[in-house]
This record gives sequence, structure tokens and C-alpha cells, in this order.
Amino acid sequence: MNKAIILAGGQGKRMKADMPKPLFKVLGEPMLEWVISACESAEVKDICIVKGFMGAMIDEYLNGRYKTVLQAERLGTGHAVMQAVPFLKDDESGNTLVLCGDAPFIDGETIKKSLAYHCENNNSVTVITAELENPFGYGRIVRTENGISGIVEQKDASEEHRKINEVNSGAYWFKTADLIQLLGKITNNNVQKEYYLTDTIEIAISEGKNAGAYKSENPDIIKGANDRKDLLNLNTYARMMVIEKHLENGIEFTCTDGVIIERGVEIGTGTEILPSTIIRGNTKIGKNCVIGASSVVENCTIGDNVKIDSSQVYDSVVEDNVTIEHYVHIRPNSHIQKGAYISDFVEIKNSVIGEQTAVSHLVYIGDSDIGRKVNIGAGTVTVNYDGIAKSRCTIGDKCFIGCNTNLIAPVKLGKAVYTAAGTTVTKDIPDYALAIDRGIMKVKEGYTIRKLKSKS
Ligand code: UD1
Ligand code: CA
Repeated sequence: MNKAIILAGGQGKRMKADMPKPLFKVLGEPMLEWVISACESAEVKDICIVKGFMGAMIDEYLNGRYKTVLQAERLGTGHAVMQAVPFLKDDESGNTLVLCGDAPFIDGETIKKSLAYHCENNNSVTVITAELENPFGYGRIVRTENGISGIVEQKDASEEHRKINEVNSGAYWFKTADLIQLLGKITNNNVQKEYYLTDTIEIAISEGKNAGAYKSENPDIIKGANDRKDLLNLNTYARMMVIEKHLENGIEFTCTDGVIIERGVEIGTGTEILPSTIIRGNTKIGKNCVIGASSVVENCTIGDNVKIDSSQVYDSVVEDNVTIEHYVHIRPNSHIQKGAYISDFVEIKNSVIGEQTAVSHLVYIGDSDIGRKVNIGAGTVTVNYDGIAKSRCTIGDKCFIGCNTNLIAPVKLGKAVYTAAGTTVTKDIPDYALAIDRGIMKVKEGYTIRKLKSKS
């Protein structure tokens, strides 16, 4: 079976943070996750991650999904791969892909095509390369008439070598059995006193094995980040890459300022995304919606013809033809059913809002099940927390909840119940009843005049 080793030992000193570099995020996901998903999309699923600096954070992030090994001392890329030899020995029959955990734009396509090239040529090692206008800092690929002769690191390169534009991306395919054997032969006899993985190429050639270079059509696979500015550039690049995909799919953007769409998001045709809108995680949006301006949608399923304006929606389902007006906060585990209308300054949490129900402005609905065609008056509050426990409110179909009603949970309102404005509901109400809870209003005529006179 084919395997992958991902090198994730880097510290990223210039990031100025106590975190392994591969955990820095590009478009909401750690760079390491981008690399893992490229492997997965190329059907390479037996993966071992080499951790180093603050390796425990890598384990914490992976949460047991993949194996890890520790490179206790940073002695070079070859030394890093050596730490994974026991993982390689599980099954030496296939090929092993080596990738850098801080070059997020390696893609499944390049992995597959380079593997095909690697196999066709019966190579022991195939390095994935890219051509760069400015190759400074990268290992240069030295080509010969009938293949390559090796890779020369920047620090070890002659004037002539430095002119080469084809560089090592840091990604390779090896025959697994050959990799184990080649690792045993590399030394740290170079300017940096490191064990270079790149030396495996010269060694393989000297032993009469085949080595080759697969040049990627996409030079961006090499992009990485050494500092915060680079990381911002990666984010900008990824952001536009995702937006371009949506443009091709018929999504409308009149201005992409502040628009961040993570790469797992699906959007239906005819939907318009307005500025400063952030769509994250595992979100699916239907057709002909208008999302934004200034909205956040995270891990949601949104139907067709939905409008979400200047609002935030998390971990919830919003069905077709729902309108969510301004400054609404829909918190996790809510389900807004077809045709519902949510007005300004509303908060909804862990609740069901039935079809065609209208929730007016300045309302809080928490832990509640609300039926169809209900009207919730402005200022209504479900009082779901008594200081110790949370309880649910249930409101039947076609209820009319007057403004400023307090519903003290747990409480159940039947069908078509009316509550008078200002009522505090403390017990269940049967179908078709009116609940009214008010003191007798007094009117004291001439009060203001008397008050003002007494002051003068
Ligand atoms: C390496 C390559 C170079 C290539 C470049 C692509 C070698 C000798 N050189 O350069 O040809 O152009 O990558 O970016 O391999 N790492 C460890 N442990 C170590 C050293 C590195 O885990 O001891 C990891 C890093 O975290 C990183 C990757 O290996 O993910 C590459 O390391 P880096 O130091 O960036 O590689 P270079 O030596 O610059
Ligand atoms: Ca580097």
C-alpha cells in the first residue's frame, strides 16, 4: 500500500508564536490539514506525521486521526524521515510520498500524476519540482541529458547552480523499500551539517537506481510561509482561489472585499455573496440566496431563496425562503423552517422555528419548539434558564404571542393561543385560549402639573 510521511517539525520562529508552523491556518484550516486532505484526495491514507517543535500540539490537533512520530532534534529533512522508518517497515511493498506540512497547496492531482510518472519510469525516487522566477533559497534541480543528477541546496550551490530556476518543492515519491535503504546512507557532510533528504537522489543514481523529477504544472504547490506576511499572502491566494471556483459555478460577487469563504463550502447558482461575508466550515448554501453584507455563516445548511443580511448563523439549518434581517444571531442547533421571517435584533438558540412563523424584533428564543404560522411579538423572551437548569418552551401552531411576553420555561402553549402584551406565562395554556396577566392600570389626571408646581 502507498504511504505518506508529512514533515511537521518546523517551529516558524519568525511567526513569533508558540505553535508548530504547520498548525498556522490558511482559510480557517491548519496548513497541515490542507496537506493531509491532498493526500486523502489522492487516495493515500496511510499517513505518518513527523512532529518536532511543540509536537504535543500536533497530536492534540490530530486527535488520533493519524500516526505521529517525534523528531526530538532538528537535524535535517533526511533525519526527520528517518524517524518514520518503523512506520515504513509495516509494509515495504508500495511507494511513499514525502511532503512538507507547511506547503498547503500541494494537490491531489499533482500527487496522482507524479505517482504515475514515478511508476512508469520505475523510479526509486521522484522529486516533484516547480519552476520559479525567483528560486532563491530552494534546492535546485540539476538535470542531465537523460534525467537528473541531483539537488543542490542554496547554501551549497555554485554560481552556475544558482541560475537554475527549477526547484525542489520538498515533495517526493519513493519506493518504500528503497527509501529505507537510502536513508541509511545519507550523512551530514554539508554546509548546514544536516541530514539532507535530497541526498537520497545522488545515492540512488550512484547505485544504478532510477531517479527523476516530475515538474508540476502548478508552481503554487511550493508556496509556504516563513513569517506572518507570507501567511497573509497564502490566505489571500487561497481566498481568491476559492472565490474564483464559485465564480465559475455561477455565484455572484459584485465586490469581494472582506469576503472569506472556506474551501469546504458549497454554494448554489444564482446566489449572491455581498462584501464582508465570512462563510466557514461545512456549510452548504442553496440557489438564489443573498448572503450579506457583513454576515457570518458557519457549519450550516441553508436552503434556496434565503436572505441573510448582517447576521450570524452557526451550526444550524435554515430552510427555503427564509428571511433573516439585520443583527440576528442564530446560535447552534437551531432549525428555521420554510418561509420563516426573523426580524432585526433577534437571538435564537437550540430552537425550532416553524414554517411561515414570524419572529419580530428584539426577541430571544432559546431551547424552544415553535410551530407554524406563529407570530412572536417584539420583545418576547423565552425565560429558559432558572439559574440552575435550562428548560424548553413549546408554542403550538398559529399562536399569537403579544409584545413583551415572558415565557417561563418549562411551559407549553397549545394551538392558536393568544398572549396579551406584557404577559408573563408561568403555566401551560390550552388550545385557543387567551392568557392575560396584567395589573389594573391607574390613570392619575393632572399629575405632571402638580409635580412641576411643587418644584417651583
Ligand atoms: C528543503 C529542501 C529543498 C527544498 C525545500 C522546499 C532539503 C535538504 N532541502 O529545504 O531542496 O527546495 O525544502 O521547501 O531537504 N523539517 C523537519 N525536520 C528537520 C528539518 C526540516 O521536520 O530537521 C521539515 C520542516 O518543518 C519543513 C520541511 O521539513 O516542513 C522542509 O524543511 P525546511 O527547513 O523548510 O527545508 P529547507 O532545508 O529549507
Ligand atoms: Ca525552507
